[in-house]
Amino acid sequence: MSRFLLKLHGYQVGVYTAFYIHCGHLWENIRVCKDSRFLRKLYLCKACKLQVHDKVRDELLHKLLLDIPSRLDTERLIIRKYTEGDGRELYLLLGRNNNREFLWENVEEVASIKTEREAEIKVRKHSAEWFARDRFVMGLWLKSENKYVGEIWIEPKKWEVPSFEIGWFLDQGYQRRGIATEAAQRALEFLFNDLNAHKVIVITRDTNPRSLKLAERLGFRREGHFRESRIENGKRYGLLYYGMLRTEFSSI
Ligand SMILES: CC(C)(COP(=O)(O)OP(=O)(O)OC[C@H]1O[C@@H](n2cnc3c(N)ncnc32)[C@H](O)[C@@H]1OP(=O)(O)O)[C@@H](O)C(=O)NCCC(=O)NCCS
Repeated sequence: MSRFLLKLHGYQVGVYTAFYIHCGHLWENIRVCKDSRFLRKLYLCKACKLQVHDKVRDELLHKLLLDIPSRLDTERLIIRKYTEGDGRELYLLLGRNNNREFLWENVEEVASIKTEREAEIKVRKHSAEWFARDRFVMGLWLKSENKYVGEIWIEPKKWEVPSFEIGWFLDQGYQRRGIATEAAQRALEFLFNDLNAHKVIVITRDTNPRSLKLAERLGFRREGHFRESRIENGKRYGLLYYGMLRTEFSSI
């Protein structure tokens, strides 16, 4: 499907031909407005403010029609969408190496899983989110040991940009081998090539050196530092915002 091609469509309206632009943005950007003069509906693209004809609108790519791979491979890893039964591996990871505690500060959503049942519900929820294109959460499996070692999650922020946030965690026992870097690099390819991202962001605590180092290693630029803006258990911390544009990814 052509997404970023600018197309002109001509339609005969009475005695003149009106031209409408197929701007190439996703269907989610199109807003319906009323044209009171001609008592008809108009479709406007929120992203570029162009008027889109209803016939053209029907051709626009809907997020549910995005053709995306559900498995990404790298030299050492299989990165894939969760499926039924993966909850057990997530639960076991939480139990290893005091990991739940290790993850608590930065990945509370995962660390708060208490039982295998809750872990299974969580992965099935991720699977449903994947199909709805609400979130893209993927598990990481180390090929050499056929072992589940972590997760990469991608959250759409604004489909009209399109912009996404990426996040990660890795089993403590598998850190400092470049595994998270390898996984995130492949996830960035997925973001820019398959999800057509224009911008990808990372938000991390300023007290999380491994995560901010990972963002910088991947080529993200630091765009903001909200110093001492949060408090937890009496301890203040700030948030760091990192961003990568499509052009910056291509030039890596
Ligand atoms: C953030 C997190 C994923 C980073 O893990 P990590 O092990 O530091 O990252 P990598 O797997 O990419 O490993 C990088 C390290 O391995 C080294 N390394 C070894 N081989 C490498 C290779 N082939 N490629 C890249 N780095 C390599 C790097 O030098 C680096 O070490 P250094 O930090 O001492 O310089 C991990 O700390 C984590 O899960 N934290 C808890 C969850 C969390 O905070 N998530 C973030 C929420 S915003």
